[in-house]
Amino acid sequence: MKLTDIEFRAMDSWWRRWGQEHFEWPVFQRLGLKIKDQDVLEIGCGNGYGANLIHRLSPRSYIGLDVMEEQIELARRRFPGYEFLVQDAADLSQFAEASKDVVVIFGVLHHIPEWRKVIDEIARVLKPNGSLFLEEPRGIDIRLFDFLFRWGHPDSDFGLKALDEYLRLRGFKFHKQWTPLLTMYHTQKLN
Ligand SMILES: C[S@@+](CC[C@H](N)C(=O)[O-])C[C@H]1O[C@@H](n2cnc3c(N)ncnc32)[C@H](O)[C@@H]1O
Repeated sequence: MKLTDIEFRAMDSWWRRWGQEHFEWPVFQRLGLKIKDQDVLEIGCGNGYGANLIHRLSPRSYIGLDVMEEQIELARRRFPGYEFLVQDAADLSQFAEASKDVVVIFGVLHHIPEWRKVIDEIARVLKPNGSLFLEEPRGIDIRLFDFLFRWGHPDSDFGLKALDEYLRLRGFKFHKQWTPLLTMYHTQKLN
């Protein structure tokens, strides 16, 4: 779902970029993120700062997608050399089965009521043993942000327990690291 105006502005702040680069990105790397010469898909790429981090590590290919035209406009303006698409992540049919080595998500599934479909699609497009690097907040933190800052997340049954259960059901193994605001996962498709 589209972000509320207030969250859209927050995602375009210096502190969001700082957190993504100096806090979340190093955790993904410690969890085993390898990008060099990999075919990478980023889901919910927002205004493109994740694309910037990913390109520093020389992927073979990169596509960032986001459902919000406003986000993709910003991303294209800021990083004109990178590939971005306006696309709902619940439908990745334009990507062939087993065509991606790595999928990256910086805090997106909690915005998508049909988040299980997104995981189904990721399972389809990942190559055998491909990796999904994923970070999501706990339900309690989502509710806290909505209460304090009126971010207005959608109603959804998304939660970390439900996420873990569904990842297992879809044949992913994972290890994760809890941090104060986000739980960060390296999940791998077993084949
Ligand atoms: C919290 S923001 C995170 C943006 C960026 N990844 C970041 O870390 O700054 C969530 C992003 O998910 C996108 N989004 C929400 N629903 C989506 C969907 N169904 N398909 C693709 N992107 C979606 C939103 O437009 C938004 O850019």
